[in-house]
Amino acid sequence: MKALLVGTVIGLVAWGAACAPGAEVPAAPAIASLLKRHCGRCHTLPPPGQHSRSYLEEALAPHHERVHLTDEEWTQLIDYLAANRS
Ligand code: HEC
Repeated sequence: MKALLVGTVIGLVAWGAACAPGAEVPAAPAIASLLKRHCGRCHTLPPPGQHSRSYLEEALAPHHERVHLTDEEWTQLIDYLAANRS
């Protein structure tokens, strides 16, 4: 299962690099639909780039109890939401 997930991530990164050269944010990564599905239940979705990584890590810490994602999915989600931020 883990290997499958890692394979998917590598596949997506390769796909993004091949299809969107120079794009700042890869178009509609799989994590975007996960975000819609899991996070849209309770509140509107924070758009990518609105919050800094450190803010997101803090704001999302209590969410680990509410939203059941794997560690990899949390990492991808924060990477996605903190795109273009430090
Ligand atoms: C079970 C309901 C629920 C789900 C599902 C949920 N949230 Fe939240 N979220 C909240 C509540 C309630 C708050 C208000 C602050 C608090 O109580 O932690 C909040 C606050 C936030 C905040 C900080 C407020 C802001 O916008 O500045 C962020 C960012 C956030 N959520 C992102 C997410 C993301 C990303 C997901 C999906 C992984 C998610 N939430 C899923 C209930 C939820």
